[in-house]
Amino acid sequence: MEIRVFRTDAEIGKTAADIICGCVREKPSCVLGLATGASPLPTYREMIAEYEAGRVSFKDVRTFNLDEYCDLPRDHKNSYYSFMVENLFSKTDIDMANVGFLDGNAPEKEESERYAAAIKAAGGIDIQILGIGRNGHIAFNEPSDEFTDEAWKVKLSDSTIEANSIYFDDIPMPRYAMTMGIGSIMRAGKIILIATGASKAQAVKDMIKGEVTPHCPASVLQRHADALILLDEAAAALL
Ligand code: GLP
Repeated sequence: MEIRVFRTDAEIGKTAADIICGCVREKPSCVLGLATGASPLPTYREMIAEYEAGRVSFKDVRTFNLDEYCDLPRDHKNSYYSFMVENLFSKTDIDMANVGFLDGNAPEKEESERYAAAIKAAGGIDIQILGIGRNGHIAFNEPSDEFTDEAWKVKLSDSTIEANSIYFDDIPMPRYAMTMGIGSIMRAGKIILIATGASKAQAVKDMIKGEVTPHCPASVLQRHADALILLDEAAAALL
C-alpha cells in the first residue's frame, strides 16, 4: 500500500483525477471501476474540469460501478445510478452504452454472473476507485466472517444504514444492496482508495495497521500489489 496524506479534499481529488485522466489518455478505452458517496466527488469534479478544458475524452472509456441499492427503482433520485448520472456521466462525454451497473432488482445469482462476465469481457478493471465505510466496508462488503468473491446481495449493517439514511428524505433507506465482491475489487489492476474526515480515522487505521481480516474488509487491500490510499489529515490521525 502507498499512503499519501493531503491538507484538502481538492488536492486529493486532483491527485486521483490526474492518475485516472493519465490512464485514459494512454489507453482511451480503459476500464474504470467507479464509486459513489462523498469521498470521490472532488475527483469527479476534477475529471469533469479536465474534460471541459478539452484535455481528456471519456467517450471510449468503459465503467463499472461498485454497488446499487435493492428495492429501489434505478431512476429514483437516491439510486447510485442517479448519483453517477448527476455527478459524472451527464457532465462528461462518457457513452452511456459503455456504463456497467449492477441491477439491485435482478435475481442475485444471474446478476452476479452477468456482471462478472461483463467485467471479464471488458478485459478487467484498470483502475478501481474506492471509499471506505466507518466500519471498514468497501463497496457494500460489510464486516463478516469471510471475504466474498463476485457480486452478491448484502444486508446492510446498522452503521451503514445510519450513515447513509441522511440521503433518504422521502422513503426509508433500502436494507439490502447488490455489491461487487472483494474478489472482483481485488482483481483491478490499480486501486485508489479515498478517505476523508475524522469519522473514517479508526477504519483507516484498521485497514492499514490491523490484521487482514474480513471483519475489516478494507484490510484486504494490504494484499493488493498496487493500492494507493489518499487521506486527509483527519482520516490519517490515528496512523
Ligand atoms: C457507501 C458506499 C461505499 C462508500 C461508503 C463511504 O456505503 N457503498 O462505496 O465508500 O459509503 O461513503 P462516503 O464516501 O460518502 O463516506
